[in-house]
Amino acid sequence: MTDTPTLPAVSREWHLLSRPVGWPKPEDFALVEAEVRQPGEGQVLVRNKYLSVDPYMRGRMSAAKSYVAPFELGKVMQGGAVGEVVASDAEGLSVGDHVLHFSGWREYAVVSGKNAVKVDPDAAPLSTYLGVLGMTGLTAYAGLLRTAAFKEGDAVFVSGAAGAVGGQVGQIARLKGASRVIGSAGSAEKVKLLVEEYGFDAAFNYKDGPVSEQLRAAAPDGIDVYFDNVGGDHLEAAIGSLNEGGRIAVCGMISVYNNTEPAPGPKNLARLIQTRGRIEGFLVGDHYDLQSQFVREVAPWVASGELKYRETVVEGIENNLEAFLGVLRGDNTGKMIVKL
Ligand SMILES: NC(=O)c1ccc[n+]([C@@H]2O[C@H](COP(=O)([O-])OP(=O)(O)OC[C@H]3O[C@@H](n4cnc5c(N)ncnc54)[C@H](OP(=O)(O)O)[C@@H]3O)[C@@H](O)[C@H]2O)c1
Repeated sequence: MTDTPTLPAVSREWHLLSRPVGWPKPEDFALVEAEVRQPGEGQVLVRNKYLSVDPYMRGRMSAAKSYVAPFELGKVMQGGAVGEVVASDAEGLSVGDHVLHFSGWREYAVVSGKNAVKVDPDAAPLSTYLGVLGMTGLTAYAGLLRTAAFKEGDAVFVSGAAGAVGGQVGQIARLKGASRVIGSAGSAEKVKLLVEEYGFDAAFNYKDGPVSEQLRAAAPDGIDVYFDNVGGDHLEAAIGSLNEGGRIAVCGMISVYNNTEPAPGPKNLARLIQTRGRIEGFLVGDHYDLQSQFVREVAPWVASGELKYRETVVEGIENNLEAFLGVLRGDNTGKMIVKL
């Protein structure tokens, strides 16, 4: 086993104390101290450097049955993280290596070597393995190309377009020959970013007026693909603007994650009949077979600057919860990252 002698005795970590009803409240969580322990056989001890906060974590805070188990009450939460190995008893992983793993929401983590993927800090900034080259990037890639079956010449609408997934969806569509890319986001600054920096053809602030009217104005010839990150009136508007043979990939519905009552469905689903439209949900976890193809294709665009990305970086484990709440509020532009 290799190890370093300068480890602290304790690591801070975030626990879920009670299951939030509606918007999560600070008293549903606690930042607690836990002993830093040496890795057992086959394990590594990682000093986390970047933590991911993601909308799906809201789902894991509730007890509802889902594709992934709820966070346990009184225990540390989980999430994507990148860190440096500071002690290792795992074959193939040495002190000084950087790894991507799933034990976020804490400063130090003991992780099985099997669940730690080595990443190269010289190939790309470490935080990008959580965003543009990581889970959110693959979500954009798989959802657009596989679930929505994007093809050259399609007009594409994406909601949550200034966020981690949405910004990448629109740019991949542009780089792959979309006839028109339209995005919606929640502020004038975000709308400006979409058009002026990300190269969208049109964008609007969904808070400025009915989404259906703003979408019709931005896409007078209709849309062939809608990548849904939001649900609600965005989804209804997209169905209303869908062209014949249109496809809707349902990635997320952030507008309903804090609802205490079920949200009503779109009133115009019958349009799927006349348009022969298709609507299909997907989970990134089912598309990891595309991971190497995704990195091969997207990493050069990121390196050349053809595909731009933003990160909103919040510093300190003590601000991990606020960063998460900030994602739900829309404080972030691009991927929300916590830097330790
Ligand atoms: N299916 C999968 O496997 C998968 C994987 C990853 C992510 N997702 C989903 O993809 C979506 C985007 O995730 P992300 O990680 O890229 O997050 P993100 O877009 O970076 O952050 C979430 C954004 O949602 C917007 N938002 C919040 N409340 C809203 C509302 N009521 N109406 C419209 N927009 C609202 C905010 O931006 P504004 O300022 O624009 O409001 C906020 O910045 C989420 O729905 C997430 O659950 C799904």
